[in-house]
Amino acid sequence: MIEFEGVTKRYPDGTVAVDDLSLTVDTGQITVLVGPSGCGKTTALRMINRMIEPSSGRILIDGDDVTSRPEAQLRREIGYVIQGAGLFPHRTVLDNVATVPILQGSSRREARTSALDLLERVGLAADLGERYPAQLSGGQQQRVGVARALAADPPVLLMDEPFSAVDPVVRDDLQQELLRLQGELGKTIVLVTHDIDEAIRLGDKVAVFAQRARLAQFAPPADLLAAPADDFVASLVGRDRGFRGLGFADGSSVALTPIDHGVDGLTLEVDHDGRPLGWRGSDGLLPTEGTFSDGANLRTVTDLVILSPAGAAIRVDAEGRADGLVLLADLAGSVRSQQRERLAALASAEEAG
Ligand SMILES: Nc1ncnc2c1ncn2[C@@H]1O[C@H](COP(=O)(O)OP(=O)(O)O)[C@@H](O)[C@H]1O
Ligand SMILES: [Mg+2]
Repeated sequence: MIEFEGVTKRYPDGTVAVDDLSLTVDTGQITVLVGPSGCGKTTALRMINRMIEPSSGRILIDGDDVTSRPEAQLRREIGYVIQGAGLFPHRTVLDNVATVPILQGSSRREARTSALDLLERVGLAADLGERYPAQLSGGQQQRVGVARALAADPPVLLMDEPFSAVDPVVRDDLQQELLRLQGELGKTIVLVTHDIDEAIRLGDKVAVFAQRARLAQFAPPADLLAAPADDFVASLVGRDRGFRGLGFADGSSVALTPIDHGVDGLTLEVDHDGRPLGWRGSDGLLPTEGTFSDGANLRTVTDLVILSPAGAAIRVDAEGRADGLVLLADLAGSVRSQQRERLAALASAEEAG
């Protein structure tokens, strides 16, 4: 657990970057700090590993004031990833990743072996290890940056706009990869971004900062979408928040209709294994436009219902065999009941707090 207790940072020129911030970051979760440029995100983040010292207030990690720990130990326990990866340009990828463990006393051989493991973990082929950073794409460099930060196996990882310098497609891959990696590692991650969509995708909890790191709202992403605390948060989360909120609702609660049920003159056609081929109608076979399986969210299911020529989403089992249809009316019922649940949860949270 990382606790900010009334933390203020005033720079020597008088700029107050962070003003009396109190915030608790849970262990083993991704906490995202999001807000407009200049609102104090980087300053707040860098105070955790003492790259910046607070002017007043305290930061505790698992109950200990960070200022009570030797800086060397602190850096070992806290990985740090920045935009553009910040790799050493004159060292190979493998040496970039192995540097810190070697400094900490690992043998060169050990460090290089575990560096190879780490490259694989972040989705890089082993032969990239002999290249220099400039010989990699931006996305690959960013993966190396993550591998390097993980090399000392720190319990805490700080990430400052780690994916902001890469194009949207690569960013999407990196975000997905981070979530997968976090599923394996369960680190305490504090990630800074100015991109609300990234915050909503990655955060277990999201801290929305206004200027001077004023905490406008600190909540799970689904709550930010369902109930923004004020106009500032509402404008940041933007349009379509109702629809985007369906991304946090379980799609397996929707009532299913048997797959031989015809819809508007269309019938689902499957191959001899039961896998969907398309919708058969008087105009021939129309494409399915996709399927969903267990674990899908309501946003995905809704999207499929809208795209489907029959207005029905196709559910498939683990083998890809169609095992049910979601009709528009059943989807609507499910959206409505999840809305009721959310409103009830918000009402009881309001009562409690
Ligand atoms: N070393 C510094 N000296 C003076 N002002 C600074 C310094 N670093 C950042 N600032 C100012 O502090 C505020 C917060 O900056 P920063 O924490 O970098 O914000 P963010 O990461 O949210 O963009 C900004 O107004 C910025 O100009
Ligand atoms: Mg910043």
